[in-house]
Amino acid sequence: MKLFDLIQNRYSCRSYLDKPVEEEKIAYIKECMRFAPSAVNRQPWQFRIVRSQEGRAKLQACYDRPWFNEAPVYVLASLLHEQEWVRADGKPHGNIDVAIAVEHLCLAATEQGLGTCWVCNFDAKRCHQLFQMPETEEPVVIIPIGYPATGLTSRVRKASEELFFEA
Ligand SMILES: Cc1cc2nc3c(=O)[nH]c(=O)nc-3n(C[C@H](O)[C@H](O)[C@H](O)COP(=O)(O)O)c2cc1C
Repeated sequence: MKLFDLIQNRYSCRSYLDKPVEEEKIAYIKECMRFAPSAVNRQPWQFRIVRSQEGRAKLQACYDRPWFNEAPVYVLASLLHEQEWVRADGKPHGNIDVAIAVEHLCLAATEQGLGTCWVCNFDAKRCHQLFQMPETEEPVVIIPIGYPATGLTSRVRKASEELFFEA
């Protein structure tokens, strides 16, 4: 699929079929994430692939939505604060890095016919505790992955004129 088609086909999928995701597809997605760029190539991230009943229950306790429970697999993306690059003026860049890797995930999954959804509105404190993360690790985003039960419904975006300027 061409990049523009991939971008157009990716959407926030909030309904999944009760069908497992093939291991080769997960492996492909992981490789696409691994090669994401990061500030000063620090790669300040870690990704838990959550498929076990126990792991799924922990994530579902952090984000209570019926549709979220349907996904057969999740990726829990963490930021490792001690590894992130901080600019001289104090701005940390780890969240940017994690976001790039996660969007690689979403596009790679789309290419494989899979649905995903960024989920940041979860109980991060609880997640940190349940997965027994060290102080320096921060759970940033959960991405459910699975075969979509429904397709893209709407695509609302600002107009180009609002966004792009010659400067
Ligand atoms: C950083 C970020 C956090 C998000 N968090 C959530 C979330 O917690 N729950 C949810 O249902 N969608 C979440 N979304 C999905 C957005 O609502 C969605 O991307 C946006 O409405 C555009 O729709 P689209 O992804 O279908 O193009 C998040 C998206 C981003 C990029």
